[in-house]
Amino acid sequence: MDSHLEDLFTLLRFPSISTASEHAGDVRACADWLVQKLTGMGLGVELHETPKHPIVIARNDHREGRKTVLIYGHYDVQPVDPVELWDTPPFEPVIKDDRIWARGATDNKGQLMAHLLGVEKTLQEKGELPVNLIFLFEGEEEIGSPNLVPFLQAHKDELKCDVIAVSDTGMVAKGVPTMGYGLRGIACCEVLVTGPKGDLHSGVFGGAVANPATAVARLVASLHDENGKIAVEGFYDDVKPLENWEREMWAQIPGVSDEDVLRITGAPEAFGEPGYSSAERLWARPTAEVNGIGGGYQGEGSKTVLPAKAMAKFSFRLVPDQDPADIQKKVKAHFEKHAPKGVKVEVVVGHDGKPYYSDPHSEDGKAAQRALEKAFGKQPVLIREGGSIPIIKDMQDILGADSLLLGLALPDCQIHAPNENFWVENFEAGIKLNGYLLEELAKG
Ligand code: BES
Ligand code: ZN
Repeated sequence: MDSHLEDLFTLLRFPSISTASEHAGDVRACADWLVQKLTGMGLGVELHETPKHPIVIARNDHREGRKTVLIYGHYDVQPVDPVELWDTPPFEPVIKDDRIWARGATDNKGQLMAHLLGVEKTLQEKGELPVNLIFLFEGEEEIGSPNLVPFLQAHKDELKCDVIAVSDTGMVAKGVPTMGYGLRGIACCEVLVTGPKGDLHSGVFGGAVANPATAVARLVASLHDENGKIAVEGFYDDVKPLENWEREMWAQIPGVSDEDVLRITGAPEAFGEPGYSSAERLWARPTAEVNGIGGGYQGEGSKTVLPAKAMAKFSFRLVPDQDPADIQKKVKAHFEKHAPKGVKVEVVVGHDGKPYYSDPHSEDGKAAQRALEKAFGKQPVLIREGGSIPIIKDMQDILGADSLLLGLALPDCQIHAPNENFWVENFEAGIKLNGYLLEELAKG
């Protein structure tokens, strides 16, 4: 275990923040370290340049007649701010209370390393793997994988595989092995509202000129009706209704009741679309979220100003069969239609990603469930995920392969937040899981 932790700690020390251009060198150094590690394991390794951050590919010797398994992961991480809220520095990993604390510990370096070290262990013990393996590690997941889709298209033949394994998702609770068979998609946009040419005295001009901050508030409020249903015309048109087997299965899953959600989040009351449980709202229903809102005076005391401009940022989580491009169009039309009088409204369309769905009862799905059961000593639960990994649907479309989502993140891992952490026991279980997974997949 010590050498396993040492390798993970080395990976965690690279501040590979993909969104921050000043960290481009660190992202690159992180990729270089992976290349060196994978080469040391006896794999054939390629580093592919992209306009931003490199893609790392590694393979064992492929043999005719064996199943080809692609394992995907990302070595980039989210920014660390607000850095003052971290108990220990984000890029100086430590073990405390049986957890590893660092940015990327769970999302996704810890989970990526569990696969890598699982493969290393099998190679050391058996001299070979039971499958043809392709590792695909990217450095741009946290910025929407802009260069991976063209890469997949250009290298479609070399990346051809039967199935994909990904550990970049969650477990519903500690000790409860979890297989994901769906992910929500995403569509992001920004609304910029402008009014007068500069900030105004709210007494001298207020009442005769529209207030951009009021307009933004109206636009934000226009997205939902009073019950929490999304009011964008046609928004639910392509939403696949939940099926009974899923609702019944999810009702039995621990860790996702309304009470659990309140306990984990600290929210005072459960809230969401009427007629659905928290699990259903999270995994099978779309959302409209305002991620940030700004404009006007935010300092101490009061300032009687009529701000010249205001803004808000939005993300919409999507479910099968919603199409992000179609939703972007409908949302833009909604904001334009609801633009309050007296101001200018500009809608800037951002990045997006398609929702993902696959059959959890496929042969490979069943093999993955057997592997989870062996690694955790318990039968796995089957869920869809609320989060998004846009490339998973692209891989389904371009490579023709489904992804087995074998998450090791717990609800209290604080991914994307200060004090991100990864349970050591999940790291160890993940390493074992990889061995069982390749064995079980090879059988089918
Ligand atoms: N690993 C997460 C996604 C995730 C987390 C899925 C937990 C399921 C459970 C991934 O790194 C992530 O944060 N994705 C972004 C995608 C976006 C930047 C396009 C997300 O979901 O916000
Ligand atoms: Zn993430």
